[in-house]
Amino acid sequence: MKVTVVGAGNVGATVANVLAAKNFCSEVVLIDVKEGLSEGKAMDIMQTAHMLNFDTTVVGATSPLDAPDYSATAGSDVVVITSGIPRKPGMSREDLIGVNAKIVKGVVDQALKHSPNAIFIIISNPMDAMTYLTLKDSKLPRNRVLGQGGMLDSSRFRYFLSRALQKAGYPATPTDIDGTVIGGHSDKTMVPLTSIATYRGIPVKDLLSDELLSEAVEQTKVGGATLTKLLGTSAWYAPGAAAAAMVEAIALDAKKLIPCCVYLDGEYGEKDLCIGVPVILGKNGLEKIVEYKLEGDEKAKFDESVKAARDTNSKLGDALK
Ligand code: 2OP
Repeated sequence: MKVTVVGAGNVGATVANVLAAKNFCSEVVLIDVKEGLSEGKAMDIMQTAHMLNFDTTVVGATSPLDAPDYSATAGSDVVVITSGIPRKPGMSREDLIGVNAKIVKGVVDQALKHSPNAIFIIISNPMDAMTYLTLKDSKLPRNRVLGQGGMLDSSRFRYFLSRALQKAGYPATPTDIDGTVIGGHSDKTMVPLTSIATYRGIPVKDLLSDELLSEAVEQTKVGGATLTKLLGTSAWYAPGAAAAAMVEAIALDAKKLIPCCVYLDGEYGEKDLCIGVPVILGKNGLEKIVEYKLEGDEKAKFDESVKAARDTNSKLGDALK
């Protein structure tokens, strides 16, 4: 398994670091436009091999903006795209669309030339629109174009639910919780599914007050924005680990049920957009979309999220040509 991670910023370097530590890839190539950055981070990660006991080779490569060179990435099975600018405090992910659409498009073209069989995982924001752009631009089948958002948002949901449960007197940790977030990877419109969230099988809605439950939902929705405010830039540990978990499910053909951003072609009653839904991930990337009946107001919230994602896609403009 050879994996390319495009962008050696905080998120990209974390993806490479977690992949190396998990020790299931033969090679991870970290590539960036800034000379020395990916080489330095790759070397730093390799110097943890002894302590962390892994045999994955992590290499860095520079691809200058004026003379792109993706030769080091040739033959990758998976390409993870983190390129583009991160948001600053006060910005929404959608604010990044103009700049990042150009960058992502260029990256996809280069990466595909050298790895025509790769599965693409998009992290760059606004992620749902960047995933749609990648699919349209590359003309790849939808099983090979996935966006990372649902894994991250679900992990944040589990964390905030565990804290709410602790406040309610239950000694819960995030691994005790099952929780899923669908819809767009967006502060306003992501949909944490409270109806199916459980604490070791017990519905959390039976254990938490309405206030605590809504607090966990709201904290999840602005999870990325809260970190951006604290850090001055976008988060990286959880986004990086989430993408690495998706790569792992593909590499090991694990057939894991993971919420991912994928192209809908009639599922959930929607067509021609990429948005987060529960997906089985295996060696072909998207193996199956799991459809189930959304309860209560969850359907209306999902529809709102779809509407917002379509709206953002409409701003892709010329990039889609
Ligand atoms: C986040 O939510 C990077 O969009 C990402 O932190």
